[in-house]
Amino acid sequence: MMPFAEKSVLLGVCGSIAAYKACDLASKLREQGAEVICALTASARQIVQPATFEALTGTRAITDLFVPAANPEISHIAVAQRVHLCLIAPATANIIAKAANGLADDWISTTLLATRAPVLFAPAMNTNMYTHAATQENIRILRERGALFVGPASGRLACGSEGPGRMAEISDILDAALIAASQQKDYAGKRVLINSGPNHEPIDPMRYLGNCSSGKMGRALALEALRRGAEVCVVTGPAAVSPPHGAQVISVQTAEEMYESVMLRMDSYDIIIGAAAVADYTPETVTPEKIKRQEKDLLLRLRPNRDIIASVAARKTPNQRVVGFAAETGDILKNAEEKLSRKQLDMIIANVIGGDSCAVGSDRGDAYILTQNQVAEHLENIDKNLLAKCIFDHLAALD
Ligand SMILES: Cc1cc2nc3c(=O)[nH]c(=O)nc-3n(C[C@H](O)[C@H](O)[C@H](O)COP(=O)(O)O)c2cc1C
Repeated sequence: MMPFAEKSVLLGVCGSIAAYKACDLASKLREQGAEVICALTASARQIVQPATFEALTGTRAITDLFVPAANPEISHIAVAQRVHLCLIAPATANIIAKAANGLADDWISTTLLATRAPVLFAPAMNTNMYTHAATQENIRILRERGALFVGPASGRLACGSEGPGRMAEISDILDAALIAASQQKDYAGKRVLINSGPNHEPIDPMRYLGNCSSGKMGRALALEALRRGAEVCVVTGPAAVSPPHGAQVISVQTAEEMYESVMLRMDSYDIIIGAAAVADYTPETVTPEKIKRQEKDLLLRLRPNRDIIASVAARKTPNQRVVGFAAETGDILKNAEEKLSRKQLDMIIANVIGGDSCAVGSDRGDAYILTQNQVAEHLENIDKNLLAKCIFDHLAALD
Protein backbone atom coordinates (compact mmCIF):
# COMPACT_ATOMS: atom_id res chain seq x y z
CA MET A 1 0.00 0.00 0.00
CA MET A 2 1.45 3.35 -0.99
CA PRO A 3 1.33 5.99 1.77
CA PHE A 4 -0.64 8.53 -0.29
CA ALA A 5 -2.89 6.00 -2.08
CA GLU A 6 -6.27 7.54 -2.94
CA LYS A 7 -5.17 10.99 -1.77
CA SER A 8 -5.31 14.10 -3.95
CA VAL A 9 -2.80 16.78 -3.04
CA LEU A 10 -2.74 20.34 -4.32
CA LEU A 11 0.90 21.45 -4.41
CA GLY A 12 1.00 25.25 -4.51
CA VAL A 13 4.43 26.51 -5.56
CA CYS A 14 5.37 30.13 -4.80
CA GLY A 15 8.15 32.49 -5.85
CA SER A 16 11.12 31.35 -3.77
CA ILE A 17 14.41 29.94 -4.99
CA ALA A 18 13.35 26.77 -3.13
CA ALA A 19 10.71 26.32 -5.88
CA TYR A 20 13.15 24.01 -7.68
CA LYS A 21 12.93 21.64 -4.69
CA ALA A 22 9.16 21.44 -5.21
CA CYS A 23 9.87 19.42 -8.39
CA ASP A 24 11.35 16.65 -6.21
CA LEU A 25 8.45 17.00 -3.78
CA ALA A 26 5.89 16.63 -6.61
CA SER A 27 7.75 13.61 -7.93
CA LYS A 28 7.94 11.89 -4.50
CA LEU A 29 4.26 12.58 -3.75
CA ARG A 30 3.36 10.93 -7.06
CA GLU A 31 5.76 8.03 -6.40
CA GLN A 32 4.02 7.48 -3.06
CA GLY A 33 0.61 7.18 -4.66
CA ALA A 34 -0.85 10.71 -4.53
CA GLU A 35 -2.71 12.41 -7.34
CA VAL A 36 -0.74 15.67 -7.48
CA ILE A 37 -2.21 18.88 -8.86
CA CYS A 38 0.43 21.60 -9.14
CA ALA A 39 -0.30 25.31 -9.21
CA LEU A 40 2.40 27.93 -9.71
CA THR A 41 2.20 31.62 -8.87
CA ALA A 42 3.44 34.16 -11.43
CA SER A 43 6.63 34.62 -9.34
CA ALA A 44 7.19 30.87 -9.13
CA ARG A 45 7.03 30.72 -12.93
CA GLN A 46 10.02 33.08 -13.07
CA ILE A 47 12.02 30.36 -11.31
CA VAL A 48 10.56 27.00 -12.47
CA GLN A 49 8.55 25.94 -15.51
CA PRO A 50 5.02 24.49 -15.29
CA ALA A 51 6.09 21.92 -17.91
CA THR A 52 8.51 20.35 -15.37
CA PHE A 53 5.64 19.72 -12.95
CA GLU A 54 3.40 18.47 -15.75
CA ALA A 55 6.03 15.93 -16.78
CA LEU A 56 6.58 14.81 -13.17
CA THR A 57 2.92 14.52 -12.19
CA GLY A 58 1.21 13.67 -15.48
CA THR A 59 -1.33 16.41 -14.71
CA ARG A 60 -1.72 19.86 -16.21
CA ALA A 61 -0.15 22.53 -13.99
CA ILE A 62 -2.39 25.45 -13.07
CA THR A 63 -1.09 28.95 -13.64
CA ASP A 64 -4.01 31.35 -14.09
CA LEU A 65 -7.29 31.97 -12.36
CA PHE A 66 -9.23 32.55 -15.57
CA VAL A 67 -7.74 30.10 -18.07
CA PRO A 68 -9.13 27.04 -16.22
CA ALA A 69 -12.68 28.23 -17.03
CA ALA A 70 -12.21 26.31 -20.25
CA ASN A 71 -11.39 23.24 -18.16
CA PRO A 72 -13.86 22.95 -15.24
CA GLU A 73 -11.83 20.08 -13.72
CA ILE A 74 -9.08 22.47 -12.64
CA SER A 75 -11.15 25.48 -11.66
CA HIS A 76 -10.22 26.74 -8.20
CA ILE A 77 -13.56 25.67 -6.69
CA ALA A 78 -13.42 22.16 -8.16
CA VAL A 79 -9.87 21.60 -6.89
CA ALA A 80 -10.58 23.26 -3.52
CA GLN A 81 -13.44 20.83 -2.92
CA ARG A 82 -11.75 17.71 -4.26
CA VAL A 83 -8.29 17.65 -2.67
CA HIS A 84 -7.45 16.01 0.66
CA LEU A 85 -4.61 18.45 1.34
CA CYS A 86 -3.39 21.86 0.17
CA LEU A 87 0.39 21.85 0.50
CA ILE A 88 2.04 25.21 -0.12
CA ALA A 89 5.74 24.55 -0.70
CA PRO A 90 7.67 26.72 -0.83
CA ALA A 91 5.41 29.21 0.96
CA THR A 92 6.60 32.79 0.51
CA ALA A 93 6.10 35.58 3.05
CA ASN A 94 3.64 36.94 0.50
CA ILE A 95 1.31 33.89 0.33
CA ILE A 96 1.39 33.57 4.12
CA ALA A 97 0.39 37.24 4.44
CA LYS A 98 -2.35 36.86 1.83
CA ALA A 99 -3.76 33.70 3.46
CA ALA A 100 -3.70 35.28 6.92
CA ASN A 101 -5.66 38.26 5.62
CA GLY A 102 -8.08 36.41 3.36
CA LEU A 103 -6.78 37.93 0.12
CA ALA A 104 -7.77 36.15 -3.07
CA ASP A 105 -5.98 37.79 -5.98
CA ASP A 106 -4.56 34.75 -7.78
CA TRP A 107 -5.33 31.03 -8.23
CA ILE A 108 -3.56 29.72 -5.10
CA SER A 109 -4.77 32.39 -2.65
CA THR A 110 -8.34 32.11 -3.98
CA THR A 111 -8.26 28.31 -3.65
CA LEU A 112 -6.96 28.59 -0.06
CA LEU A 113 -10.10 30.56 0.82
CA ALA A 114 -12.40 28.16 -1.01
CA THR A 115 -11.03 24.93 0.45
CA ARG A 116 -11.96 23.20 3.68
CA ALA A 117 -9.17 20.65 3.27
CA PRO A 118 -6.20 20.83 5.68
CA VAL A 119 -3.61 23.44 4.64
CA LEU A 120 0.09 22.81 5.24
CA PHE A 121 2.65 25.57 4.63
CA ALA A 122 6.39 24.91 4.17
CA PRO A 123 7.81 28.44 4.52
CA ALA A 124 11.03 29.42 2.74
CA MET A 125 12.45 32.91 2.93
CA ASN A 126 15.30 35.14 4.07
CA THR A 127 15.77 35.10 7.86
CA ASN A 128 14.83 38.76 8.29
CA MET A 129 11.64 38.19 6.29
CA TYR A 130 10.79 35.13 8.40
CA THR A 131 11.52 36.73 11.77
CA HIS A 132 9.79 40.01 10.82
CA ALA A 133 6.95 40.76 13.24
CA ALA A 134 4.45 40.88 10.35
CA THR A 135 5.33 37.38 9.12
CA GLN A 136 5.36 35.97 12.65
CA GLU A 137 1.95 37.51 13.34
CA ASN A 138 0.57 36.11 10.07
CA ILE A 139 1.85 32.63 10.98
CA ARG A 140 0.31 32.93 14.43
CA ILE A 141 -3.07 33.89 12.93
CA LEU A 142 -2.97 31.00 10.46
CA ARG A 143 -1.99 28.48 13.15
CA GLU A 144 -4.81 29.72 15.34
CA ARG A 145 -7.21 29.02 12.46
CA GLY A 146 -5.90 25.47 12.14
CA ALA A 147 -3.31 25.83 9.38
CA LEU A 148 -0.28 23.57 9.74
CA PHE A 149 3.38 24.44 9.27
CA VAL A 150 6.47 22.35 8.60
CA GLY A 151 9.81 24.14 9.05
CA PRO A 152 11.49 26.33 8.19
CA ALA A 153 14.84 24.78 9.02
CA SER A 154 17.89 26.80 10.01
CA GLY A 155 21.04 26.92 7.93
CA ARG A 156 22.73 28.71 5.05
CA LEU A 157 20.17 30.39 2.82
CA ALA A 158 20.34 31.07 -0.93
CA CYS A 159 20.79 34.80 -0.15
CA GLY A 160 23.99 33.97 1.76
CA SER A 161 22.69 34.63 5.28
CA GLU A 162 22.46 32.02 8.05
CA GLY A 163 19.44 31.41 10.24
CA PRO A 164 15.86 30.16 10.08
CA GLY A 165 14.26 30.34 6.62
CA ARG A 166 15.37 27.25 4.68
CA MET A 167 12.49 25.19 3.40
CA ALA A 168 12.15 21.99 5.49
CA GLU A 169 13.72 18.83 4.09
CA ILE A 170 11.54 17.05 1.52
CA SER A 171 11.32 13.94 3.76
CA ASP A 172 9.99 16.11 6.63
CA ILE A 173 7.45 17.76 4.31
CA LEU A 174 6.28 14.33 3.12
CA ASP A 175 5.86 13.12 6.74
CA ALA A 176 3.92 16.28 7.67
CA ALA A 177 1.79 15.99 4.51
CA LEU A 178 0.91 12.37 5.23
CA ILE A 179 -0.12 13.22 8.79
CA ALA A 180 -2.13 16.27 7.65
CA ALA A 181 -3.93 14.41 4.82
CA SER A 182 -5.03 11.54 7.06
CA GLN A 183 -8.65 11.59 8.16
CA GLN A 184 -8.36 8.53 10.40
CA LYS A 185 -7.58 9.94 13.86
CA ASP A 186 -8.50 6.95 16.06
CA TYR A 187 -5.40 7.45 18.25
CA ALA A 188 -6.08 11.14 18.99
CA GLY A 189 -5.35 11.82 22.67
CA LYS A 190 -3.11 8.73 22.97
CA ARG A 191 0.58 8.94 23.80
CA VAL A 192 2.89 6.39 22.20
CA LEU A 193 6.49 5.71 23.29
CA ILE A 194 8.62 3.72 20.84
CA ASN A 195 12.20 2.55 21.12
CA SER A 196 13.90 2.05 17.80
CA GLY A 197 17.13 1.14 16.01
CA PRO A 198 20.30 -0.57 17.20
CA ASN A 199 22.55 0.09 20.17
CA HIS A 200 26.27 0.71 20.12
CA GLU A 201 28.00 -0.90 23.07
CA PRO A 202 31.49 0.62 23.38
CA ILE A 203 34.61 -1.55 23.52
CA ASP A 204 37.22 1.23 23.37
CA PRO A 205 37.14 4.87 22.13
CA MET A 206 37.07 3.61 18.51
CA ARG A 207 35.09 0.38 18.51
CA TYR A 208 31.67 -0.83 19.51
CA LEU A 209 29.44 -3.88 19.37
CA GLY A 210 26.39 -3.19 17.20
CA ASN A 211 23.74 -4.86 15.10
CA CYS A 212 22.19 -4.24 11.69
CA SER A 213 18.84 -2.77 12.80
CA SER A 214 18.04 0.20 10.53
CA GLY A 215 15.32 1.84 12.64
CA LYS A 216 12.86 1.48 9.72
CA MET A 217 10.26 -0.45 11.76
CA GLY A 218 10.37 2.12 14.58
CA ARG A 219 10.04 4.92 12.03
CA ALA A 220 7.05 3.23 10.34
CA LEU A 221 5.33 2.75 13.71
CA ALA A 222 5.95 6.35 14.76
CA LEU A 223 4.62 7.71 11.46
CA GLU A 224 1.51 5.51 11.63
CA ALA A 225 0.80 6.63 15.21
CA LEU A 226 1.26 10.30 14.24
CA ARG A 227 -0.92 9.83 11.14
CA ARG A 228 -3.68 8.44 13.35
CA GLY A 229 -3.50 11.38 15.74
CA ALA A 230 -1.25 10.15 18.57
CA GLU A 231 1.49 12.09 20.31
CA VAL A 232 4.71 10.17 19.75
CA CYS A 233 8.12 9.97 21.42
CA VAL A 234 10.88 7.88 19.83
CA VAL A 235 13.91 6.81 21.87
CA THR A 236 16.32 5.90 19.12
CA GLY A 237 19.73 4.31 18.97
CA PRO A 238 22.16 5.29 16.17
CA ALA A 239 19.88 4.18 13.34
CA ALA A 240 20.26 4.56 9.57
CA VAL A 241 16.89 6.33 9.25
CA SER A 242 15.59 9.22 11.35
CA PRO A 243 12.27 9.19 13.21
CA PRO A 244 9.47 11.02 11.38
CA HIS A 245 8.86 14.74 11.53
CA GLY A 246 6.41 15.46 14.34
CA ALA A 247 7.77 12.91 16.82
CA GLN A 248 9.71 13.92 19.90
CA VAL A 249 13.14 12.31 19.48
CA ILE A 250 15.50 11.16 22.23
CA SER A 251 18.85 9.92 20.90
CA VAL A 252 20.82 7.33 22.84
CA GLN A 253 23.71 4.98 22.11
CA THR A 254 23.76 2.08 24.54
CA ALA A 255 21.10 -0.33 25.76
CA GLU A 256 21.57 1.01 29.29
CA GLU A 257 20.90 4.60 28.10
CA MET A 258 17.85 3.34 26.22
CA TYR A 259 16.65 1.53 29.36
CA GLU A 260 17.03 4.68 31.49
CA SER A 261 15.31 6.86 28.90
CA VAL A 262 12.32 4.52 28.39
CA MET A 263 11.82 3.82 32.11
CA LEU A 264 12.01 7.53 32.93
CA ARG A 265 9.15 8.29 30.50
CA MET A 266 6.95 5.21 30.39
CA ASP A 267 4.48 6.24 33.12
CA SER A 268 3.09 9.09 31.02
CA TYR A 269 2.46 6.97 27.88
CA ASP A 270 -0.56 4.83 26.95
CA ILE A 271 1.27 2.53 24.56
CA ILE A 272 4.92 1.47 24.79
CA ILE A 273 6.42 -0.36 21.81
CA GLY A 274 9.83 -1.99 21.89
CA ALA A 275 10.88 -1.99 18.24
CA ALA A 276 14.60 -1.47 18.95
CA ALA A 277 17.09 -4.28 18.44
CA VAL A 278 18.33 -3.78 21.99
CA ALA A 279 21.84 -5.11 22.60
CA ASP A 280 21.49 -8.15 24.85
CA TYR A 281 25.14 -7.94 25.95
CA THR A 282 27.69 -5.24 26.60
CA PRO A 283 31.47 -5.47 27.16
CA GLU A 284 32.18 -5.81 30.86
CA THR A 285 34.88 -3.14 30.66
CA VAL A 286 35.39 -0.27 28.23
CA THR A 287 39.10 0.23 27.60
CA PRO A 288 39.96 3.95 27.83
CA GLU A 289 42.83 3.55 25.33
CA LYS A 290 42.39 2.09 21.83
CA ILE A 291 43.12 -1.64 21.96
CA LYS A 292 46.29 -2.30 19.98
CA ARG A 293 46.38 -5.01 17.35
CA GLN A 294 48.29 -8.10 18.47
CA GLU A 295 48.93 -11.41 16.76
CA LYS A 296 46.87 -13.38 19.28
CA ASP A 297 43.21 -13.89 20.12
CA LEU A 298 41.40 -11.06 21.84
CA LEU A 299 38.83 -12.12 24.41
CA LEU A 300 35.93 -9.83 25.25
CA ARG A 301 33.93 -10.61 28.34
CA LEU A 302 30.28 -9.60 27.95
CA ARG A 303 27.60 -9.13 30.56
CA PRO A 304 23.83 -9.05 29.93
CA ASN A 305 22.02 -5.73 29.62
CA ARG A 306 18.74 -5.09 31.41
CA ASP A 307 15.64 -6.30 29.51
CA ILE A 308 13.80 -3.08 28.63
CA ILE A 309 10.45 -4.43 27.44
CA ALA A 310 10.19 -6.97 30.27
CA SER A 311 10.84 -4.17 32.79
CA VAL A 312 8.22 -1.96 31.10
CA ALA A 313 5.65 -4.79 31.15
CA ALA A 314 6.39 -5.52 34.80
CA ARG A 315 5.65 -1.90 35.73
CA LYS A 316 2.70 -1.23 33.42
CA THR A 317 -0.72 -0.25 34.74
CA PRO A 318 -3.94 -1.93 33.48
CA ASN A 319 -4.58 1.03 31.15
CA GLN A 320 -1.23 0.77 29.40
CA ARG A 321 -0.44 -1.48 26.43
CA VAL A 322 3.01 -2.96 25.88
CA VAL A 323 4.12 -4.34 22.53
CA GLY A 324 7.35 -6.25 21.99
CA PHE A 325 9.23 -7.53 18.96
CA ALA A 326 11.05 -10.82 18.62
CA ALA A 327 13.58 -11.47 15.89
CA GLU A 328 13.84 -15.20 15.42
CA THR A 329 15.76 -17.51 13.11
CA GLY A 330 13.88 -20.71 14.01
CA ASP A 331 10.83 -21.98 15.93
CA ILE A 332 9.36 -18.53 15.31
CA LEU A 333 5.90 -19.03 16.77
CA LYS A 334 6.97 -21.17 19.73
CA ASN A 335 9.68 -18.68 20.76
CA ALA A 336 7.38 -15.67 20.28
CA GLU A 337 4.56 -17.26 22.30
CA GLU A 338 7.00 -18.06 25.09
CA LYS A 339 8.26 -14.43 25.14
CA LEU A 340 4.74 -13.01 25.01
CA SER A 341 3.71 -15.04 28.02
CA ARG A 342 6.97 -14.85 30.06
CA LYS A 343 7.28 -11.05 29.64
CA GLN A 344 3.50 -10.51 30.02
CA LEU A 345 3.22 -8.38 26.89
CA ASP A 346 -0.09 -7.38 25.30
CA MET A 347 1.26 -8.12 21.83
CA ILE A 348 4.39 -9.44 20.21
CA ILE A 349 5.50 -9.18 16.61
CA ALA A 350 7.75 -12.03 15.57
CA ASN A 351 10.05 -11.23 12.68
CA VAL A 352 11.75 -13.90 10.67
CA ILE A 353 15.46 -13.11 10.39
CA GLY A 354 18.10 -14.89 8.37
CA GLY A 355 17.48 -16.20 4.88
CA ASP A 356 15.83 -14.38 1.97
CA SER A 357 12.97 -12.82 3.94
CA CYS A 358 15.18 -11.22 6.62
CA ALA A 359 13.37 -8.24 8.15
CA VAL A 360 16.47 -6.60 9.66
CA GLY A 361 17.54 -3.52 7.72
CA SER A 362 14.97 -4.20 4.99
CA ASP A 363 11.79 -2.33 3.91
CA ARG A 364 9.79 -5.56 4.10
CA GLY A 365 9.65 -8.64 6.25
CA ASP A 366 7.81 -11.79 7.24
CA ALA A 367 5.99 -11.20 10.51
CA TYR A 368 3.54 -12.81 12.89
CA ILE A 369 1.33 -10.68 15.15
CA LEU A 370 0.42 -12.47 18.39
CA THR A 371 -1.75 -11.27 21.25
CA GLN A 372 -2.54 -13.00 24.54
CA ASN A 373 -5.85 -14.46 23.43
CA GLN A 374 -5.88 -14.23 19.65
CA VAL A 375 -4.68 -16.54 16.93
CA ALA A 376 -1.52 -15.25 15.32
CA GLU A 377 -1.78 -13.38 12.04
CA HIS A 378 0.95 -14.23 9.56
CA LEU A 379 1.90 -11.39 7.23
CA GLU A 380 4.20 -12.59 4.49
CA ASN A 381 6.69 -10.30 2.77
CA ILE A 382 4.88 -7.29 4.18
CA ASP A 383 5.96 -3.66 3.77
CA LYS A 384 6.92 -2.22 7.18
CA ASN A 385 4.50 0.71 6.75
CA LEU A 386 1.65 -1.72 6.20
CA LEU A 387 2.84 -3.87 9.10
CA ALA A 388 2.75 -0.75 11.32
CA LYS A 389 -0.85 -0.14 10.23
CA CYS A 390 -1.81 -3.77 11.06
CA ILE A 391 -0.16 -3.48 14.50
CA PHE A 392 -2.18 -0.36 15.39
CA ASP A 393 -5.36 -1.98 13.99
CA HIS A 394 -4.78 -5.02 16.25
CA LEU A 395 -3.98 -2.77 19.22
CA ALA A 396 -7.22 -0.83 18.71
CA ALA A 397 -9.11 -4.14 18.67
CA LEU A 398 -7.73 -5.02 22.13
CA ASP A 399 -9.69 -2.20 23.79
C1 LIG B 1 15.34 35.38 -6.94
C2 LIG B 1 14.26 35.62 -5.95
C3 LIG B 1 14.12 34.78 -4.87
C4 LIG B 1 13.11 35.00 -3.93
N1 LIG B 1 13.01 34.13 -2.87
C5 LIG B 1 12.02 34.34 -1.97
C6 LIG B 1 11.87 33.44 -0.88
O1 LIG B 1 12.63 32.47 -0.71
N2 LIG B 1 10.86 33.65 -0.01
C7 LIG B 1 9.99 34.71 -0.14
O2 LIG B 1 9.10 34.84 0.69
N3 LIG B 1 10.13 35.57 -1.17
C8 LIG B 1 11.10 35.41 -2.08
N4 LIG B 1 11.24 36.27 -3.13
C9 LIG B 1 10.28 37.37 -3.25
C10 LIG B 1 8.96 36.85 -3.82
O3 LIG B 1 9.17 36.22 -5.07
C11 LIG B 1 7.99 38.01 -3.93
O4 LIG B 1 7.63 38.44 -2.64
C12 LIG B 1 6.75 37.64 -4.73
O5 LIG B 1 5.84 38.70 -4.70
C13 LIG B 1 6.08 36.41 -4.15
O6 LIG B 1 4.94 36.06 -4.91
P1 LIG B 1 4.11 34.76 -4.68
O7 LIG B 1 3.92 34.61 -3.22
O8 LIG B 1 2.84 35.01 -5.42
O9 LIG B 1 4.88 33.64 -5.31
C14 LIG B 1 12.23 36.10 -4.07
C15 LIG B 1 12.39 36.93 -5.17
C16 LIG B 1 13.40 36.72 -6.09
C17 LIG B 1 13.54 37.68 -7.22
